[in-house]
Amino acid sequence: MPAGGSAIVEFKVDVNGTFILVDHSIFRAFNKGALGMLKAEGESNKTIYSGTIQEGIYHPEGGGIQEMPKEQVVTKPVVAKTLPQQIAAGKNIYSKTCFACHQSEGQGIPNAFPPLAGSDYLNANPKRAINAVIHGLSGEVTVNGKKYNNIMTSQNLTDEEIANVLTYVYSSWGNSKKVITTVMVKAERSNKPIKASGGGH
Ligand code: HEC
Repeated sequence: MPAGGSAIVEFKVDVNGTFILVDHSIFRAFNKGALGMLKAEGESNKTIYSGTIQEGIYHPEGGGIQEMPKEQVVTKPVVAKTLPQQIAAGKNIYSKTCFACHQSEGQGIPNAFPPLAGSDYLNANPKRAINAVIHGLSGEVTVNGKKYNNIMTSQNLTDEEIANVLTYVYSSWGNSKKVITTVMVKAERSNKPIKASGGGH
């Protein structure tokens, strides 16, 4: 139909639905409404349209592209299997999480953050160290004869991350080489936070 032209047509609709009529002479019809809706009701011819919409063949890739079955999402974190792997993973966590306060060589900062290097507090009791990382630690503690009275906030880490970071700490800077497992961390989660008061050990 040419722009400005008109026509009368008679046609039959085989399938129910709302059909959109578009006037493509958009510049002319712009302000007048370029769309029309034709509502058809009655008995549908299911051999022409089953009622099911499948968009696949209309995608740019066409219908020939098959979707691969989705792999099951593995949410389990990669478990460090060997001790060196655990220590390496722990070192990574240390440098992101503990480093700011306890410093690169675990030396701490005098009067503020106690050392982890050669710490008698740490080496005397692994459960207490795990507890400090899970729940945080505040109040007076004595580490290597020096008193600290500050606040360590609870560290938001998984059981495995805590096991790894503490295993790294214990393996470094002259500490006792204790290996911390996720089982030990889990056990400490249900225990109460330790209120540090008085002596370190
Ligand atoms: C925001 C600073 C801060 C961060 C981060 C931090 N700590 Fe602490 N940590 C402290 C403070 C402060 C104390 C002493 C708390 C007190 O005075 O009661 C402490 C105490 C400790 C202790 C017991 C005392 C000692 O020196 O042996 C351990 C063990 C420890 N932290 C381990 C860690 C580990 C492991 C991480 C990282 C996962 C970590 N901390 C992250 C500030 C921090």
